[in-house]
Amino acid sequence: MADGRGPVRFGVIGCADIALRRTLPAMRADAGVEVRAIASRDLAKAERSAAAHGIGAALGGYAELLERDDVDAVYIPLPAALHAEWVERALLAGKHVLVEKPFTTEGRDTARLIALARERGRLLLENMMFLHHPQHARVDGLVADGAIGEVRALAAAFTIPPKPRGDIRYRPDVGGGALVDIGVYPVAAALRFLGPRLRLVGAVLRVDRAGGAVVGGSALLSDPRGVTAQLTFGMEHSYHSGYELRGSSGRLVLERVFTPPPAYGPVVRVERQDHREEIVLPPADQFANVVGLFAAAVREGGDLTSWHEESLRRAELLDDIRDKAEYARVQQV
Ligand SMILES: NC(=O)c1ccc[n+]([C@@H]2O[C@H](COP(=O)([O-])OP(=O)(O)OC[C@H]3O[C@@H](n4cnc5c(N)ncnc54)[C@H](OP(=O)(O)O)[C@@H]3O)[C@@H](O)[C@H]2O)c1
Repeated sequence: MADGRGPVRFGVIGCADIALRRTLPAMRADAGVEVRAIASRDLAKAERSAAAHGIGAALGGYAELLERDDVDAVYIPLPAALHAEWVERALLAGKHVLVEKPFTTEGRDTARLIALARERGRLLLENMMFLHHPQHARVDGLVADGAIGEVRALAAAFTIPPKPRGDIRYRPDVGGGALVDIGVYPVAAALRFLGPRLRLVGAVLRVDRAGGAVVGGSALLSDPRGVTAQLTFGMEHSYHSGYELRGSSGRLVLERVFTPPPAYGPVVRVERQDHREEIVLPPADQFANVVGLFAAAVREGGDLTSWHEESLRRAELLDDIRDKAEYARVQQV
């Protein structure tokens, strides 16, 4: 779309699991997007990925992809600690950037890169996908209609069973660990519903004694009115991906909120003293929604400022949790 018409031409940096499994299928299904090239540190891996996803060019290095004139935008699904470097290089090469969550592993890098994108007139978006699922707007509507009275608190949890050894999330040098990789979801949910004035009250992080990675934790946040968010996250748990809004007269409970499959019809459970109801919502593909939103913004010169503000506030809270938490060293089984 060099001339502002036609599909946005993407390049993908890294043959990541999330790219191959979810993002590339969503990109292929979007008529406003064309994936031109995929790069890997390993050319054979890039070739296999390109063949599997019908991508024209396979490259054996990330820098090569940034030099291509037929790429307008890059998608960066690298391990968290590599995001800052490659987002910066992509922006400096004149590309628009869709970067996987977490934006970076340091709030100051997130702020610097957002400023750089503005300065260069490029679009930059953190792929915090669950926020692009319409189920949350339905929750807003129920709250506004008084379904649970006044909101007093939110509880959100994203916990998963252990990943295979060697996964990027156990490697503090590249992956960033469970706080930035998994904790970012409940932090985002808290900010989404309780607003940007949330502050950290206290947190505990569990660190793997052997490898040094954060493997789990909890945090308590509060806004100036004492509306609180209790957050739990980790990769040493049974699976749970949900949030609950607790009000003066009832509760809204949602499960499978952070990574719902595209065919899943979300359920909102409404609980009041003498009333229990389950509202089943239509399925939605949050991957397709974020790809569509970003591509439309690139094509039409959209404004992503409100998304940047959310990314910045999330990054600040993640920094605060990391810096002020009580740390417990634990033995992984
Ligand atoms: N939005 C979501 O729903 C969602 C879900 C899961 C993950 N994510 C995010 O997506 C990113 C990737 O996660 P993933 O689970 O897909 O990870 P992954 O499969 O390990 O992929 C990471 C890719 O980064 C590249 N890489 C470059 N340097 C590396 C290094 N030193 N060590 C390991 N890999 C390196 C590799 O590609 P090459 O070998 O091809 O160069 C690798 O395939 C993370 O930021 C994660 O938080 C988002």
